[in-house]
Order: sequence, then structure tokens, then C-alpha cells
Amino acid sequence: MKIALVPEPVEAAFPEGRLEIGASLSGACADDAFTREAAFLAERLRAATGFAVPVQKSGGDGATIVIERDDAGAPESYGLEVGADGAVLRAGSRAGIFRGIQTLLQLFPPAIHSRSARTGIVWGVPFARISDRPRFAWRGAMLDASRHFAPVAFVKRFLDTMAMHKLNVFHWHLTDDQGWRIEIKKYPRLTEIGARRRETMVGHYDAGQGGDGIPHSGHYTQDEIRDIVAYAAERHIEIVPEIDMPGHMTAAVAAYPELGCTGRQIEVATKWGIFDDILQPNESVIRFCCDVLSEVIGLFPSRFVHLGGDEAVKTQWKNSPAIQAMIRDAGVADEEEMQGYFMGRINAFLRENGRQMVGWDEIIEGGAPDGSVIMSWRGVSGAVAAVKAGHEAVMAPQKATYLDNYQSPHHENEPLAIGGAVTLRNSYEFDPVPRALDEEDVRRTFGHDAKPPVQPGPVELSEKEKSLILGVQGQLWREYLPQSTDVEYMAFPRLCALAEIGWSSAAKDYPRFLERLEVHLKRLDVMGVRYRALD
Ligand code: ACM
Repeated sequence: MKIALVPEPVEAAFPEGRLEIGASLSGACADDAFTREAAFLAERLRAATGFAVPVQKSGGDGATIVIERDDAGAPESYGLEVGADGAVLRAGSRAGIFRGIQTLLQLFPPAIHSRSARTGIVWGVPFARISDRPRFAWRGAMLDASRHFAPVAFVKRFLDTMAMHKLNVFHWHLTDDQGWRIEIKKYPRLTEIGARRRETMVGHYDAGQGGDGIPHSGHYTQDEIRDIVAYAAERHIEIVPEIDMPGHMTAAVAAYPELGCTGRQIEVATKWGIFDDILQPNESVIRFCCDVLSEVIGLFPSRFVHLGGDEAVKTQWKNSPAIQAMIRDAGVADEEEMQGYFMGRINAFLRENGRQMVGWDEIIEGGAPDGSVIMSWRGVSGAVAAVKAGHEAVMAPQKATYLDNYQSPHHENEPLAIGGAVTLRNSYEFDPVPRALDEEDVRRTFGHDAKPPVQPGPVELSEKEKSLILGVQGQLWREYLPQSTDVEYMAFPRLCALAEIGWSSAAKDYPRFLERLEVHLKRLDVMGVRYRALD
């Protein structure tokens, strides 16, 4: 079997030779800090090979796999050496050991990714000398749990596939117009009312085929969330929850109409799209948001909380004399700045609680709140403007990372999707540190601004500005992905490509990536992941 690591390590050499692994397999982990990772590896090896893997506490002598501390490296970095005497994995952190374990597993035959014992396989790994570290600290995947609910078991399975790709940020889109999916004790109607929609539109939005008449519901209890957060932490994945505001709040307004601008009783949205119903930016709504976020930050230890901020239609703010008065009272110029004021108030609450706000790139328009991270989705212009203004940014542009878009321009051969075309190659060849901005990119982000903060043309970023680009993330919006298998079809293999550009500083070579991917897909086969076949 060819050696095919995804993502590709920064430095790897494979001397001639192979370490055979048999039933006498044993491990050693002298450092107490790494015992959970050692147990994780032992369990994975046991599950697939059927060999019990005793892990000694100290004395690597005679052990097949040794886990050791080496404080030299950067966060998440690791070294792995495999020779005739065994394999030695070294890192300065638990996360580094965990990333190295994923590499070690990929050196085995693909069947090592099985969760039940496989027979008739000669287990072994090639001799190797690997020194590896991530290019970016944020290597993310976003899952939309609102448009279609993802059961706990699927979320865990998705976290497993993230872990094998060294992805480390799970951005969980928990609320939107079509469903509120997180239990909030103080506001039970958010899930009693907001987690259920009457029906779901059939087919593509543009086709106007009506609804299916079938209710769709689901939410995560706080206990389930704690369980998932712990599961992710075992895999060194941070979960960034998203509570989208002030738009994309139809489900919350359906539950508590007083949050909205009209006072009307509306229903949880049954169609896709962008809606006029929006939170009103008054003190009691700000208090509501902070109360919700208090519970959210009690559940999620991540430094980051995503507040959305995208596609907030201001018609109701324009039409409401009461909100016009609030705009005057807040001393801001218009509705856009009012969104900036509103997000700023919530941001202040997060900061008081030691957290950092993330928002979609619209939050630049009303003045990005202090310390906020910009998630650049309409293009990369939002990120460039953000880092030039001293903000951190995450690259999530539609053209390369929107995994809900078609995977090929030949839509007729693909299951129904929202539109677009983001090919595997588009994802792989995306550079998270842009060298130029094209007109289309700037227009999509800042087209309506009288004075856009960036212009088309070459981009010069200082080392400091480059360091503010935290990383890259793939988006799995689920309007057109009702089943978990649909999510896997859209996620893979494009997420393999995004994992590689997020992790690896090795030179990019698409044909060689495809060669590695052919082997890598056998691992996904073993795991039963329903990926899209290569063209
Ligand atoms: C988005 O796609 N509305 C962030």
C-alpha cells in the first residue's frame, strides 16, 4: 500500500523497511499528561486489529509504540519515528500527541480505521521520520444544525472524521430561521416552539414547489451538549457555538414575539432564504441575548462565540418609529451602524466574560466590535479589510469553502444543491493568505459601500497582518442536505482538501494530492463515510 498521508506532513522521510505489528503489540507512555491519548490509540488499535494493547506507564524497553514528551515544538506539533525497534511519538502537548496518533494510524493499512476487528490483514507500518506542525491554528468545519437537525450520533461521527484530518474547530450553527436547536433553561419556548417547523419546502427554492407537510424538529439538551463538548475535547477539537443575531432569528421570534419588531405571532420558517423578521435592538432584547449567551458560555469552554451578524435585513428597523428613536438615542447614523451598536453591546458582554466574538463579514459594515474575529464568507475581501484594521479573521469564502455548493459544474449528475460550483480543485488550490483581490470578490462584499475599505488589485500584508489570519474553514449549510449521508457526500473529499491547506505548509501539488486521496478514500470507505467519488 502506498504511503498517503492527508493532510501531508511538513517534513517526512520514509527509509526502506517496515515495522510488523503482531499480537504482542504493546505501548509505553511515561508522561501522565498523555495517558488519555495513549488509551485512545490503544483502543483504536485494539478495535481494528483485535490485539489487546497493554500500555506500560514507563520504560519504553520492548514496547512497540512509545509516547514521550518533547517540549521543543510549536502548539500541536509532533515528531514520529518508526524503525525496526518500534515507533516513537513525541510532542509537547496532548494535542500534538493526538495529531501524531492520526498520522501513525494513517501509516497502517486503511482497515485500521475499522471499529470492529478485521482478520486476514498483515498489520504493519513503514519506517518513517516525520516532523510536523500546523500552518494555521484554526482548521474548521461548520455544521448547520438548524436547517436540518443532526442527531448526537452523527455529530460524534462527524467529529471523528474531523479528527482524522487534524481539523480542530467545529463551528456549530445552532440557531436560525428554520429551527432553534439548543436548550436554554431560562427560555424554554425557544425549543418548545422554536425547535419545530410545520413543514419543509420541497425541491429548490427557485422551483416554488410548496411544502412537504411533514414537521421537522430536534434540539440538543444541555446534557447532550456537554457530552458532545467532552467528546470533541478528547479529540482536541474546540466547539465554537453560533447563535446568529440580529437576523436569522425567526425561530426565536416565533417562540417569543416580543423579541421581534412587529409584535406579530409568526411561525418557524418553513422555506429557505433571508427573512425580514429581525430582533429589535432594545434593552430587553439585549438582555435576552446576554441571558442566552450566559447559558451558552456555561456549556462551551471555547474562547470564541459566534454571533452570526449576517444577512440582517433592516426593513423592519427602517419602518419602525420606535427603532428610529433607538437609533437616535444610541447616537448612530443609520440602521447599519445600529447593528454595529447592537453587536458591540453583546460583544462587551462576551468580553466581560472572557470570550471573543466571531461574526460573518457583514459585521464590518456597522463597525466591527473591538476584538471581534471576522469570518470572511462573501469572498476574501472581508478578511483582508479585517486584518488591515487589526482584527483576526478566518477564511470561509463561498468560492472555495462552501461545501453546500455543487461539486461540479455538471449539476445534472449531482444531487440537488443550493447552487454554485466549488470543485475539489477549487478547495485545494485556495490560498488562505491572499495575494490579490479580484473585482468580483470586492463587489460581493463591499459593493454597496460608498467607500470600500479595500480595492481590487494586489494585496500586500505585513507579517503581523498575515498572523491575524487564523485559518480556514469549510461550511456545511443544510438547506438541501436533509440526511446525514448528504452531509458526508458534500463534505468529502472537499474537506480533505481544506484540511490539507489548513494544516500543511508543504508545497501544493494537485495531481499528487489526488494520488494520496485515492488511498485516503479507502480509509473513509472503511469508516462507511458516504463521500463523493473522484471524477
Ligand atoms: C452566510 O452564508 N449567510 C454566512
